[in-house]
Amino acid sequence: MSGIVIAPSHYLLGIDLGTSYSLVAAFDGLGEPVVLEIDGTKEVPSVVSFSEGHRYLVGQKAKRLARIAPDRTVSSIKLKLKDPHYRLETLGQAYTPADISALILGYLRDGAQRSTAADWRGNLTRCVISVPANFGPAEREQVVRAGQLAGLEVIGLINEPTAAAIAYGFDRVNEDSRLLIYDMGGGTLDVSVVKVRSRPGKANELRVLASNGLDVGGDNFDELILRHLADKLQAGTGIQLLDLTAKDHLEIDKKRELQALFRSEAERMKRELSESEHTVTWLPNLLDTSAYPGVSFDAELFRSQFEPMIQPLVQATEEVINKSLAQAKLSREQIDKAVLVGGSTHIPLVRRFVAEVMGRAPYGDLDPSTCVALGAALYAYALTVPGEEPPLVDINSYSFGIQASGWGFTELIPKGAELPGEYTKTFTTVADEVTFLNINVYSNEQGNRRVTDPGMKLLGQFTIDGLPPRKAGEVKVEVTFRLNEDNILEVSARLPGRADSEAGITIGKR
Ligand SMILES: Nc1ncnc2c1ncn2[C@@H]1O[C@H](COP(=O)(O)OP(=O)(O)OP(=O)(O)O)[C@@H](O)[C@H]1O
Ligand SMILES: [Mg+2]
Repeated sequence: MSGIVIAPSHYLLGIDLGTSYSLVAAFDGLGEPVVLEIDGTKEVPSVVSFSEGHRYLVGQKAKRLARIAPDRTVSSIKLKLKDPHYRLETLGQAYTPADISALILGYLRDGAQRSTAADWRGNLTRCVISVPANFGPAEREQVVRAGQLAGLEVIGLINEPTAAAIAYGFDRVNEDSRLLIYDMGGGTLDVSVVKVRSRPGKANELRVLASNGLDVGGDNFDELILRHLADKLQAGTGIQLLDLTAKDHLEIDKKRELQALFRSEAERMKRELSESEHTVTWLPNLLDTSAYPGVSFDAELFRSQFEPMIQPLVQATEEVINKSLAQAKLSREQIDKAVLVGGSTHIPLVRRFVAEVMGRAPYGDLDPSTCVALGAALYAYALTVPGEEPPLVDINSYSFGIQASGWGFTELIPKGAELPGEYTKTFTTVADEVTFLNINVYSNEQGNRRVTDPGMKLLGQFTIDGLPPRKAGEVKVEVTFRLNEDNILEVSARLPGRADSEAGITIGKR
C-alpha cells in the first residue's frame, strides 16, 4: 500500500485508456487528483497476455511475455475498437476489443483499490474514461461497455485533449486565455484549441474551439528505429527480420519472437534518446542454431541520427496545427499557451518543433504523460457536483448525416458543432407513390460527399412508413439529429405536424 489517503467524498477514478499505456487517477485526502502507482508503475502497458485455463496477465508482466509468446499477447487494442469485426482468437477463445479493454480496465480498478489506503468496498466503481477526440458514437459505446464489463460505473467519457485542457484549465490558469493542446501519444496526434474563461469564485469554464487529428505517434518512431536495427542485423547475419516470408534460415515463430524483442529495444532506445545524446543495445546470445551459431547483436544510435529519421513525420503535424487554428479562427499570436501532452512530447525534437511553429516555448507545468488521467478525474468530480453542470463545452470531431438519393451524403450535423446540438432538415420524396423511406445514418470523417467514399461509416438505419402515396416531390419528411454531451446520437424522422408518424434510432446507447 502506498498509503495515499483518499477523501471519502471522492470515490472517483479518472482513467486514461491509452493505446500503449493506461493510467488511473484518484483524489487524495486534500482533494487533489493524483496518478496511482500500480505494481510499481504509473504507466501501465495496455498489454494483455493469455494463458491456458482462461488465465491472463495485464501490464508490465504481459509486456514481458510479448517477447516469449507474441501469439498469445495483444497490444494496441484501442486501435481495434474502431473495427466492429475484429476478434482476437487465441487458445480456443475469441475476444472482442471491448473484452480485452475490459481486462485492462479491471486491472486498473483492482490496482487502484490496492494502492490506496481507503476502503473502496462498494465505492470504487464510478469513473470517467478518456477517449480520442475522433472516436464516434459506436467506439464510445464500446468503451462504456468495456467499463461495465470491468465492473465500473462509467459516469462519463471525455475527449483526451479536452481532459488535458481540464488538467491545466480548471484551476491552473488565472485569467481568460486560449490554449493549444498538442497531444502526441503512441498511435495518434490530437491538436485542440480551447478557450478558458475565468469565473470569480468558481472553476474556470472551458470551451473547445477546434479539434483535429492525425495517425502519427511514438509507434511510428519505434518502427523507424526497428528498421535501423533490422538492417544492421541483416548486414551481419543475412536475417531479414521484418519479412516473415523471406528465405532465410529462421523459423517464423522465432522470427516473431525476435521482432518483439527488437521492437521493445527500439522503444527503450528512443526513450533514452530523450535524455541523452547516445544509446546502445546489446543482445548477447541472441541465436545459437546450426544456421546461426553464437550470434550476438549490438547497435548504437545517436540523437543526431534519430532526429532526421523522425523529422518528416513530425513536420507533417504542422498542417494539423494550422487546420485547428483556422477552425478556431485564431492566429498563432492569439494563443496564450501551447501545451504539450502525451508520451511522445518528451522527445526534444518534438518540443523544439512546437516551440518553433508556435513562436514560443511550450508550457508544461504538468507531466505530459499524466495530465489526461488527471483531467479525467477532475471531470469525474465536476460531473458529481450537485446542481451544477460541468463548466465545459466540447465539439464533435466529424460530421453526421444521411444517405440522400443515390449514393449522396447529406450533412445534418457539421464537424466542430458544439455539444449538445440539434439539427433538422426537410427532405422530399424523389419517387412516385412511395409509402416508406429508409433512413441510413452515416458519420463522415474526412468531409467526403458520397456514402461510398473513404471515412464514411454506416452507424444505423431505420424506416419511416405511413407516407401518403403521392407524386415525387409532394411528400415532405423532417429528419432531426440530436447529439448530446456524451456523443450519444438520436435520429428521428416524421411527417411535418404528425407526431404519431415519428420513427427513429439512438446510436451510442448507455
Ligand atoms: N521519455 C520518452 N521519450 C520518447 N518517447 C516516449 C517517452 N515516454 C513515452 N514515450 C512514448 O510515448 C508513447 C506513449 O505515449 P502516451 O502514453 O501518451 O500514448 P497513449 O496514450 O498510449 O496513446 P494514444 O494517446 O495514442 O492512445 C509511446 O510511443 C512511448 O514510447
Ligand atoms: Mg493518450
